[in-house]
Amino acid sequence: MAYGIITGSALYNLPHLNLKEQLIQTHYGDTKVFLSTEVDPPLIFIPRHGVNHTIPPHKINYRANLMALKTLGVTKILAAYAVGSINPDIPPLSIVAINDFIDFTNGRESTFFDGEKEIVEHTEMSQPYDPVLHQKILQTAKSLNIPVRKKGVYVCSNGPRLETPSEIRMFRLLGADVVGMTGVPEVVLSKELNIPFAAIAFSVNWAAGIEKTVRFLEEGLEELTANLINLMLRTLYNFEE
Ligand code: HPA
Repeated sequence: MAYGIITGSALYNLPHLNLKEQLIQTHYGDTKVFLSTEVDPPLIFIPRHGVNHTIPPHKINYRANLMALKTLGVTKILAAYAVGSINPDIPPLSIVAINDFIDFTNGRESTFFDGEKEIVEHTEMSQPYDPVLHQKILQTAKSLNIPVRKKGVYVCSNGPRLETPSEIRMFRLLGADVVGMTGVPEVVLSKELNIPFAAIAFSVNWAAGIEKTVRFLEEGLEELTANLINLMLRTLYNFEE
């Protein structure tokens, strides 16, 4: 058994853990993961853009990443997403426990059930994120005094370009709170593999059209990401003080 953490922009390392790089071969391609045996069960860490942010959102091999985690015996996954804020009540620097998504991606390999293995399944998405893990994030955040918004709808755009102001207005009308580029198909693939998966978004900018230009956070980002890593590790491992 093992636990998995997947992170994206602004989070390329888990500073307090000794991580060993491993190349994992899967039916869907090879992927690089980082393993720590300092925690029990072991932790498998995947920085989805690569440690030097060389893999753009639409080119991430989501299937290889999720299959690698499955192969390594991962039974719980926490994912983090840097996002833009759409909902005026969720300003940059906010942390949100995501509870639903809207998919605006295209051209991605987004399922294991593509007919290749003669099974087609229509995976249930009434609760895309695991409610137990979701609750655990909220409890842990409370105990650590980290403000986390309890719910939020994540809209996934394809990227790598940012959105237009009209796209953001449309997303807002559709009920999206935050926008990112990597949340889908990651959560879908995890669900297809029956691995409980929960996601935490942290906002690094107002989405397009809300201010004159999109400005990414610089101040406060270090503390935000440190809080986020702490929150994810403690949610999984319930570390004692
Ligand atoms: N749009 C899409 N993805 C993002 C954004 C954004 O404004 N900010 C961070 N990831």
